[in-house]
Amino acid sequence: RYLKRTSLPWLAPLSKQPKAPTSHGYGKSPSQSSSMVRTIPRTLDRKTIALLFSKRSTRTRVAAETAATLLGGQALFLGRDDIQLGVNESLRDSARVIAGMCQGIFARVGDHEEIEELAKYSAVPVLNALSSLWHPTQVLADLLTLQEKAYLFETPGSRQPGSYPRLRPLTIAYVGDSANVLHDMLVTYPRMGHQLRVASPDNEKYRAPKAVWDRVVELECDKGIFWTSDPREAVHGADVVVTDTWISMGQEAEKEQRLRDFQGYQVTEELCREGGANPEWKFMHCLPRKPHEVDDEVFYGPRSLVFQEADNRKWTIMALFDLLFGQWRFTPELPGERE
Ligand code: CP
Ligand code: NVA
Repeated sequence: RYLKRTSLPWLAPLSKQPKAPTSHGYGKSPSQSSSMVRTIPRTLDRKTIALLFSKRSTRTRVAAETAATLLGGQALFLGRDDIQLGVNESLRDSARVIAGMCQGIFARVGDHEEIEELAKYSAVPVLNALSSLWHPTQVLADLLTLQEKAYLFETPGSRQPGSYPRLRPLTIAYVGDSANVLHDMLVTYPRMGHQLRVASPDNEKYRAPKAVWDRVVELECDKGIFWTSDPREAVHGADVVVTDTWISMGQEAEKEQRLRDFQGYQVTEELCREGGANPEWKFMHCLPRKPHEVDDEVFYGPRSLVFQEADNRKWTIMALFDLLFGQWRFTPELPGERE
């Protein structure tokens, strides 16, 4: 929905595509094409977006800063050691003060409640840059990547020459921890007609928490999800195999236990062959990656879409900044400005 509503032209393919694609997808990426960059609307002109990050980031931060620049605005990075938040000042007071000077907040937090608290007390829109439960901007980049790669999943000869490839319903397997990245896949892919097959160890702590599963059921996504503790069973028939780190930020103290619990979950050619994945299966990972969860042969091999996925963090975050911060207009009755 966000990608369809943005004014950025190369994100239109999810609704309608202005130009026929090249045989390998979309031709030049926008970052390589100065004529495309010139079409970017300057909807953040004279605006500042606060990047309130209490955890590390490479992709999300670089994507946000470069996207804000292209939209004519400024990103103001506020890391955990830069401001009073968490040491001397409450989230409520910080939200009020930052929203008084900035036109949007992109926040990476620990507990999900923290982003809810920021949104409650901010007079400007707050966008989740990752929380304990969700990573919504990641799944948008993944969707764009799959859409760009739609031609890889086509039956040969099924498309009129010059017409745009449509993404067919896929079987997507996720092998690993039930964490923020998977949670957004759970509430997104089934709604778009894709089947999800998930493998996580047989232990409550590696399964989706109640708050996430309630949302899955509310959105009627549960019918499109199969869950097992056997990675081979999960990858059966998979067109795409996805994983994430087994040790998310903040779980470092559990490293040894987690490495033991996830034995047998590494994504490899052998696992997918034995499990009966589609022989043409592709691999995706949000990054950063550790070799425990996927070996080098897959990660750096021809199946891997990981670096295109990383590049697409920028264009999808730019679409969100354009729509939520650039096109947003302050109205006093919005929640957060009640005080
Ligand atoms: N995928 C992702 O969010 O990466 P960073 O943690 O580097 O931002
Ligand atoms: N699950 C990982 C995602 C990193 C982008 C984490 O939360 O650390």
